[in-house]
Amino acid sequence: MTNELDRVRDHYRATGLTERLKTVLAALGPADQLLTPQQLGTLDQFHTRGLAATAELAQLAGVAADMSVLDVGSGIGGPARFLAATYGCRVTGVDLSEPFVEAARYLTERTGQSGQLSFQTANGLELPFDDGRFDIVLLQHVAMNISNRARLYHETRRVLKSGGRFATFDVALGKGEPHYPLPWARMPATSFLLTADATRAAIEAAGFRMLAWQDDTEAARAWFAQLRASGPPPSPNLGVVMGPDFAELTTNLGRNLMQGRLGILTAVFEAV
Ligand SMILES: C[S@@+](CC[C@H](N)C(=O)[O-])C[C@H]1O[C@@H](n2cnc3c(N)ncnc32)[C@H](O)[C@@H]1O
Repeated sequence: MTNELDRVRDHYRATGLTERLKTVLAALGPADQLLTPQQLGTLDQFHTRGLAATAELAQLAGVAADMSVLDVGSGIGGPARFLAATYGCRVTGVDLSEPFVEAARYLTERTGQSGQLSFQTANGLELPFDDGRFDIVLLQHVAMNISNRARLYHETRRVLKSGGRFATFDVALGKGEPHYPLPWARMPATSFLLTADATRAAIEAAGFRMLAWQDDTEAARAWFAQLRASGPPPSPNLGVVMGPDFAELTTNLGRNLMQGRLGILTAVFEAV
């Protein structure tokens, strides 16, 4: 387990990330000028289909202003900032990567949302919260880094109120071995993919009832095809976060999706 966590942390080590962000964001204006979550959208949504996927998942989950939302594996905080700005809800983010949490706090200061959002370093398998604390738990492109799915989904269930919702947007195993390196794992040792059916079974076994289930593989393929056709990505982008090989990691994800080796699923469950 420790080795697994260390390897995942190492993948997202992002040394000097906040300083790099300060440098690239200078192009958007002086440091005392507030940025909007949309301005950061090409940089801070670390999952397939970016901001559009977060917006769709939040709508499907029924996020509302009076809710308390937990984002597990919150990355550099893009989804959390978008939700807070769009719905007026409070969002707490937890992530295994300390540099990501530091960057999430910095970017949240830059958007002037620090009063609505908080970020802390924590493992999704040991959430530092009381039982029944949240209305919604969000999990976007995180589960593929976690081998102990039963524990992940039980922890998620534990911190949700009864009747609360669990919204997940994740990568699922298709047919055939995926090509590596990938955005969440440069080698198979950091990747713990399940098929869509096995994912659903593991979630339901943790005390959830399915409300919505979508196979988003086609939408993801179309998005990758468009990315390929539109040339180099706009700046700033996730290359700042993950380093110069990010283009290769993303290209491989697109290739695996096109070949049916990987799929994308969106689902919402109710805590029972
Ligand atoms: C591909 S990124 C997605 C980030 C964010 N959810 C988003 O969509 O922008 C995966 C994130 O999951 C985090 N992560 C992986 N394993 C974790 C764990 N056991 N507990 C908490 N966070 C974890 C990583 O540090 C990374 O920030």
